[in-house]
Formats: sequence, structure tokens, C-alpha cells
Amino acid sequence: MTDTRITSLLAWEALDSRGTPTVACEVLLACGARGQAMAPSGASTGTHEAAELRDADHRYAGRAVTRAVANVETTLAEAVHGLDALDRSAVDTALLATDTDAALSNVGANAVLAVSVAAALAAADARRMPLYRSVLDAGAAPLLPLPMVNVISGGAHAGGAIDIQDILVVPVGADSFRQALEWCWSVRRGTAMAAEQRGLSTALVADEGGLAFPLTRNRDAFDLVTEGIHRAGLEPGTQAAIAVDVAATQFFQDGRYLLRTEDRALTSAELISEFTEWTTTYPLISIEDLLAEDDWDGWEQATVQLASTQLLGDDLFVTNPARLQRGITHHVGNAVLVKPNQIGTLTQARSVVRAAHDANYRTVLSARSGDTEDSWLADLAVGWRTGQIKVGSTMRSERTAKWNRLLHIERELGAAAEFAGCDAIRR
Ligand code: PGA
Ligand code: ZN
Repeated sequence: MTDTRITSLLAWEALDSRGTPTVACEVLLACGARGQAMAPSGASTGTHEAAELRDADHRYAGRAVTRAVANVETTLAEAVHGLDALDRSAVDTALLATDTDAALSNVGANAVLAVSVAAALAAADARRMPLYRSVLDAGAAPLLPLPMVNVISGGAHAGGAIDIQDILVVPVGADSFRQALEWCWSVRRGTAMAAEQRGLSTALVADEGGLAFPLTRNRDAFDLVTEGIHRAGLEPGTQAAIAVDVAATQFFQDGRYLLRTEDRALTSAELISEFTEWTTTYPLISIEDLLAEDDWDGWEQATVQLASTQLLGDDLFVTNPARLQRGITHHVGNAVLVKPNQIGTLTQARSVVRAAHDANYRTVLSARSGDTEDSWLADLAVGWRTGQIKVGSTMRSERTAKWNRLLHIERELGAAAEFAGCDAIRR
């Protein structure tokens, strides 16, 4: 019998894809198994997310994480020492008990997440299983997710090139993951060619690898991606659809939505009408954070008006079971974006996926704009059967690490590989 108790934790300060310090951690088990993970970090973060702990001193312009790193090796190490890594719930409960603040502001959600993931990887290593298999429910089969791939970036990830944060492609007609990824690549290429023809530069990319150029109207981005779909030889709507992350919290001010690109200030109702128009003009299938994080009334209205569109809550739900429950109870949104570092532990993020599925809400597992070369997110999407995944563009190594891991899993599963396809998103 292998001894899967946690014996020690090592932590160090690493850099994420934006070059910002982040917490890296290794969990060691008595049997010699080990797991290693780094915490990702957002830029357009929601107010209700769990809190990262940063040093706020002279190092790295205040962004250093030596205090969070120290917490891993002291407080968190003491809390989980001797626990069985296979008992994920016990490990995560012990981690959460170290902080009196549910937002984990004292120990740092970045510290907690790194340990939670590293412990899960150590458990998988001890079981000689890939992570996706180790987190799978008994009797369930692995499910490769439908990707949602960033093509054009704006907002906080692209110096405010346009108001909307991401315009993405969803390969709804693909019938395998590898075909899905190839189609997304083709649409990105087609969009870049369309942009170049209009004199726009495609040399520089945004935080998540998306194309970033100034446009005069938000809808110009939809025109470009629709043209990109045509240039890729795909049929808009049936083969490749468009998704958008509005990240509206970022431009909500004094009760109005300020579209700086177009010099307009809209109410919730006016912005909802704008989206309704977009859904009839473009093959738009999913809208994320279409309204601000606390605009519950607007969201409720939008959910009625845009019932056939996937309405995805990111800053709204922040992977928080209580906020998702409020949404379910009041029929707000119909899908949830799941970012494990928004809440702190894998157990909590897993419970959000479960609650969402029980309420017939769709789930999209998501990376952060500041991410790392880790690929565990891909395994979680497959093992938790989230159905959809969003990790940015088809370039930049912190993005391709996840895509490449999914390609590996698909190969490993061979003929048995089940691909979520359009059923994961269509309503
Ligand atoms: P973030 O962006 O990681 O900067 O929060 C991703 C998103 O908004 O979905
Ligand atoms: Zn978002």
C-alpha cells in the first residue's frame, strides 16, 4: 500500500506570462510522488474574486509574492501535513481553514490555489494516472471540451483597443478536438488577412495572444471575424460561430456603460438591445459578462431577452457557489465561467461545475490573462466534463500548453475519445 500522506511543501516565486511574479509550489508525498503547480492571475478581475496576496513593497513594483510563498511553506504546510493527498476534500478544507476571510486575503488565494492543484497532481502521480483520470467521477468517461478561441482582443488585455475584451471563435461544427483547434487557427489566420487588407497591423498580440488593433466601432471586430470564418472556408453559424467576452464591469461607471470606442453611454436596457441586434446580424452564440458584476436586474432581463444565446457569467459568478446559486434561483445567465483561482481550491471549483450541471447551466473552464506554462487546466476540463474551455489564442506558449495537452489526451484516448462538440454550447 503506497503512503500517500503529504510530507512537505516547497514554494518559490516564479513569473507568469505577463512577467508578473506568481506562486509556484511542489507537494511531496511519503511514497515519493510529487505534484507541481503555479497560480495564474487575472487583469480584468471581478470585485468578488478571492484575493491574491502581493507584497506591495519595492520588489517587482509591488507585485512580488514572497509573503504568499512563505505562507505555503509555513501556515499551509502545517495545515496539510500528514493528510492523505487522495482525500482532496480534506486537503482543501484544511487549506481554507487557515484563513478567517472567505476571500483568503490573509494567506493569499494565489498560495492556496497553487497548493490545492499541486496536491491533486501529487495524488494523480501516486496513483500513476494522468490528472484528468484521477479527478474523474466513478463511472464517468473523459470528455474533450469544445474550445472557445480568442481572435481579437480589446479592453484591459489590449490597452483598450476596443471596449469589448475578447472576440472568440467557437468551432461548433467540428467533430474532434484536433479539427476544432485547426479550424480556430484557420479563422484566426483568415481574420489577420482581412485585417491586413484594411491596413491594420497584426504584428503585435495582446495578453492572451489575440490580435489587437484600434477599431472605431466594436462591431468592426465582428465583421472581421465573420470575414475570417469565410476566408477559412467555413460556414458561419453552422461550422464556426462567434463568442464574445464583453467584460462590461470594466466600462461600467455611475450607472452607465461607457463605450469609449464609439463615444456612447448606454443603460443596461440599451446595451441589451445592442446585443440583441448583434445576435441577429452575426453568428453570435455566446456572450460573457454582457453586463456589470452587480447588475443583477439587468442580467435577469438579458436572460429573458437573449434566451437562445449562451449567457456566461465570469465577474458575475466568480466561480463562487453562493453567487451561482443566486443566479440559478433568479434565472440569471445560463452558463458559468469557471476559473479555479477565483475561488481558491479545486474542491470549490468542482462543486461549482456540479451545481451548474445540476441546474442545466453550461460550464466553460477558463485560464487567466496572466497564465503559466502549466497544463493542468486541460486535464480538469476533460475530467470534470466541463464541455467547453477558454484559454486564449492559438499562440503564446502559456496558451498552447493547454491546447497541446488536450491534443495529447485526445491521442491517448484514441478511438474512445469523446468530444463535446456543439451540444456543449447550443441551447
Ligand atoms: P482575466 O480575463 O484573466 O484578465 O480576468 C479573462 C476573462 O475575463 O475571461
Ligand atoms: Zn471574462
